[in-house]
Amino acid sequence: MLGKENDMNRFFSQSFVTVEHLTGEDVTLVFRKAEEMRTLCEEKGGDDRLKHKILAALFYEPSTRTFSSFISAMQRLGGGVIPLNGMSHTSVIKGETLEDTVRVFSSYADILVMRHPDPGSIANAVEYAAKPIINAGDGIGEHPTQALIDAYTIENVFGKIDGLHILLIGDLAHYRPTNSLSKLLALYPNVKISMSTPKQVPMQEEVTSYLKKKKVSFKEYSDFQDILPEVDVLYVTRVKKEYMSESLYKQVKGSYIVDKTMVRQMKKKSIILHCLPRVDEIHADVDSDPRSLYLTTQVRNGLYVRMALLDLILRKAS
Ligand code: CP
Repeated sequence: MLGKENDMNRFFSQSFVTVEHLTGEDVTLVFRKAEEMRTLCEEKGGDDRLKHKILAALFYEPSTRTFSSFISAMQRLGGGVIPLNGMSHTSVIKGETLEDTVRVFSSYADILVMRHPDPGSIANAVEYAAKPIINAGDGIGEHPTQALIDAYTIENVFGKIDGLHILLIGDLAHYRPTNSLSKLLALYPNVKISMSTPKQVPMQEEVTSYLKKKKVSFKEYSDFQDILPEVDVLYVTRVKKEYMSESLYKQVKGSYIVDKTMVRQMKKKSIILHCLPRVDEIHADVDSDPRSLYLTTQVRNGLYVRMALLDLILRKAS
């Protein structure tokens, strides 16, 4: 769903639903644009390049960061927003379909940013929308913009992604950001991915098959503590209570909690990421460790990367 391979900016006027369509050049373009946005924010706070453009944020599921950072991104670039964080005060409640909803918002807005509980729903919505749609999370499917933020954060710290060892821990069965990040990491031939999950919530077969097809080096561990001294990036995830039965939640909740003792085993030059919200899976005493980027750099990078995507999608000469 991106433009032709030889286009300079394949994002222009296109929807962004999955990382599977990205090339290394696309990712480099987003990172370069995100750097431009960082400088713009630091020096001037923003500009008017998207004046008279409107973003409709249609969130059928709750969000703090994705919703707010897209709103902030659009406003910092001079655009306007239709901000719907929850659809309970729209005609969705009267039974209006997703297909009709996106057709309608295509008349009001230049770009739609959508979150929905059903995997595949955003790809379906794209078929009916007359304007580009950005996937802000489709159930246990993908969260492609979060993966770009995470990769950008890693690249910024290490100056590279290829060759790094990335450990993903937690409820990987239901965690769309790690689905997208794992698939994105397949662009880097020498990345090493380790995964450690409670046995009831392993990474989805669809994702591990993708990694195998792309010949990504990955290994699953029942206990991640032994490999902590080797990893460059520790990526912690939340137990997604909203996507599981009460009985499954009782089995997995609290089964992994990262604390200071664990973090002490990690390399000096390593980082801890979590795309948030965090519940209890990282102890608060880890927050002040300089390697913990989840409440600071990772969040801030969300703004720059989303500004970059809006600019690339809405302006050809980006
Ligand atoms: N990281 C993330 O998607 O957070 P929100 O659910 O708050 O948007």
